[in-house]
Amino acid sequence: MRSATDTKKISLMIPDVLKGKRIIVGVTGGIAAYKSCLIIRSLVSRGAEVRVIMTPAAKEFITPLTLSTLSGNEVILNMFPKSQDENLKVNPWHIEYGIWADLMIIAPATINTVAKISNGFADNALTAVVHALRCPLLVAPAADMDMYKHRTHLQNLGKLIELGYHICEAEEGFLASGLSGPGRMAEVDKIIDFAESIISGFTPDLSGKKILISAGPTFEDIDPVRYIGNRSSGKMGYELAKAAYIRGAEVTLISGPSHEKCYPEISKINIRSAAEMKLAIESKISENQILIMSAAVADYKPLTVADKKIKKESDFQNIPLTETEDILASIKKEGKIVIGFALETNNEIENASSKLKKKNLDLIVLNSLKDEGAAFEHPTNKVSIISRTGNIKEYPILSKFQTANNILSEIVSSGLV
Ligand code: CTP
Repeated sequence: MRSATDTKKISLMIPDVLKGKRIIVGVTGGIAAYKSCLIIRSLVSRGAEVRVIMTPAAKEFITPLTLSTLSGNEVILNMFPKSQDENLKVNPWHIEYGIWADLMIIAPATINTVAKISNGFADNALTAVVHALRCPLLVAPAADMDMYKHRTHLQNLGKLIELGYHICEAEEGFLASGLSGPGRMAEVDKIIDFAESIISGFTPDLSGKKILISAGPTFEDIDPVRYIGNRSSGKMGYELAKAAYIRGAEVTLISGPSHEKCYPEISKINIRSAAEMKLAIESKISENQILIMSAAVADYKPLTVADKKIKKESDFQNIPLTETEDILASIKKEGKIVIGFALETNNEIENASSKLKKKNLDLIVLNSLKDEGAAFEHPTNKVSIISRTGNIKEYPILSKFQTANNILSEIVSSGLV
């Protein structure tokens, strides 16, 4: 078994799409400004070059010194900064920033800043740069619930979308006022996932699509204490769900026992056994166009589940097993786009291709346990995608999020949706 250090070494070998990217982080005056520290930290730790612009109100919540320390760069506070270096003398600084950046993120974006941008105001350093950008803009709005739901704010968010800006919508939850409702800025990891997807050039090509994804292991109980399980963490399925959501899909995730987290907008059904997973998929398949079966479903289960803990002295060595039902093979798939996974250790292409035919799939994603950093217990994966016509596409070792996006791109580019 590989150690955590090996896993870290493998992760370091993978090209990070954020590495070397030039990102402007705009911070406005809301309590969520404290989370901008974590956004900057995360971008810098992934190798991005970060420049920060704060609005005057942002300084009421967080100090420029904190953000300049975290970003390693001077923070812009005024449209007319006092110190100007050589470069800035040649170009007005806001134009230079607009040309420099690969992405701008405004997080948090207050009601006021959303209103200004959607209506074309450029009255401070941050809003001026927005108008000078040549790159995409990601906006993560935040406000207390009544302000967030105000008609003008919702209209202004709509205008930002019409203008082609990306929105990472606020979530529902506990707010600084003590109220609970919509308006909480999206979690940092989600904003970073959006940033990664935008920089990778992914568009909302799955918007209007409904996708059902299974993830994780299934556990088959032996008695109230013990079970048969496998080493799947569920990460691949969760990353598929997140990537599909960011690309505009409505996602339902059916998850076996897993410690992974997904976004609140993804509707999640927790199950434990293969039989429960089958029931959940059967109840949801009709309303979805696509099924991606990434779960590592147990193949065997105890013939009976003991209702009391089986004692050591009793016949513990002999637990009769029976096969679980093959969900993918038995599910009704007429009119659905169905993608399966195959985990193999030998004759990989042959075995995976035969599973594709036997289970009547459109695509099968092959993981080989022979590949370092692939399949279970890794943040990375290395897959080949096989189509019904026998076309095989091999991908390098990548993060599971990047792998998920490649699988989704394959579904889109093969004309299945
Ligand atoms: N699968 C399923 N129900 C099962 C077992 C597997 O739906 N009881 C699905 C998995 O989610 C995966 C595909 O079938 O998408 C292939 O799973 P895999 O474990 O690779 O193959 P098996 O069909 O179980 O065959 P084997 O274990 O013998 O390789």
